Amino acid sequence: MSQGRTIVVGITGGIAAYKAVNIVRAFVLLGDSVHVVATPAALRFVGRPTLEAISRNPVHTDLYEGVAEVRHVAIGQSADLIVVAPATANTIAKLAAGLADDLLGNTILASTAPLVIAPAMHTEMWNNPATVHNVQTLRNRGVIVVGPGVGRLTGSDSGAGRMEEPDVIVAAALAALHPGTPARDLSGRRIVITAGGTREPLDPVRFLGNRSSGKQGVRLAEAATARGASVVLIAANLEIPVPAGIETRLVGTALELQSAVTDAAAGADAVIMAAAVADYRPATVRGDKIKKDDEGDTLTLELVRNPDILAGLAAAKTTGQLVIGFAAETEADPDRLLSLGREKLARKGCDYLVLNRVGWTEGFAAERNEVRILDSAGVIVAEAAGTKMSVAGRILDVVVAGLG
Ligand code: C5P
Repeated sequence: MSQGRTIVVGITGGIAAYKAVNIVRAFVLLGDSVHVVATPAALRFVGRPTLEAISRNPVHTDLYEGVAEVRHVAIGQSADLIVVAPATANTIAKLAAGLADDLLGNTILASTAPLVIAPAMHTEMWNNPATVHNVQTLRNRGVIVVGPGVGRLTGSDSGAGRMEEPDVIVAAALAALHPGTPARDLSGRRIVITAGGTREPLDPVRFLGNRSSGKQGVRLAEAATARGASVVLIAANLEIPVPAGIETRLVGTALELQSAVTDAAAGADAVIMAAAVADYRPATVRGDKIKKDDEGDTLTLELVRNPDILAGLAAAKTTGQLVIGFAAETEADPDRLLSLGREKLARKGCDYLVLNRVGWTEGFAAERNEVRILDSAGVIVAEAAGTKMSVAGRILDVVVAGLG
């Protein structure tokens, strides 16, 4: 199980420090030996016992502990990889200046290992010219900067500055351990990805929706970008932050999604329809809020069919373009699930179909996914089970092979 690798996770003083626990855990589960170096401020956000239990190692913070073993350089020298998450504006400034006034600064200066940082701060701090300059300095030195994402921040505000999700940080860190991977095998390719779930309004305050969080689609967009593709993400009501640096078009309804994806598909090498699109929408959208006093004990809604966007894209696709659909089904029997997938493939006419089972607890919003990928003949060409990031990687392998 042991990878024989030593990973140092540096945690600095931001509220996102609590999410760093998941990063530590992910490396431990991979079999790595994980050493947490936390700044004193980080320990105000997440407790030392939690980090020690999860990392299975003592947590170091103090420059003047372990002096006899020259700990301030020993940790850095032993590291195969250093991940700083969250990296505050203050830590980024110190790293850019090469300061070593705490154990983390010493550890990083004493190390030649790849350094991955996941910034987390308020939008104003991220956009401040000092931070912009410091981040650029670090990038120029080869530091890998993951995120930040755009989305809800600690207060009631939102914007750029949210720490990237732990699985994305871990994936970037693993890629940094093996330079050259992920392959830039989508470079020069244009890929359109839909994500999330459409919402069909009933009146100004209500909608018909579904439980899609958009996670799988967003991971696909991130993974495709990392592999060199130019990505357009068509985002319908995402429950996770829109990734920074990916061209994103926000849509609400199925008809809006249809217009955005049809527009973006022109000239694209592949269109991946990961979004959960409503099959029906209310026949009329009331101008005013529906009132129970007017409706009585029952309310009947008339719904009309939405266009099948995927089938439309598949019918209109240009030579060489790949159209990939998703099928999320509640069927528990694997064989019957496969038959449903094959029927759907035939109906939709797409090149590949990513088939997964969904239920009350599976599929939607979960961190993990389990899929089978069918080609246009209904043959299973790939299977994947794991984080949505790793499943995204497998789907993109199929896209790369299909593009030839
Ligand atoms: O028919 P079903 O909804 O199961 O098909 C799922 C696939 O079709 C997904 O790729 C989804 O994005 C797409 N779809 C669509 N237009 C619809 C319904 C689903 O493009 N109206």
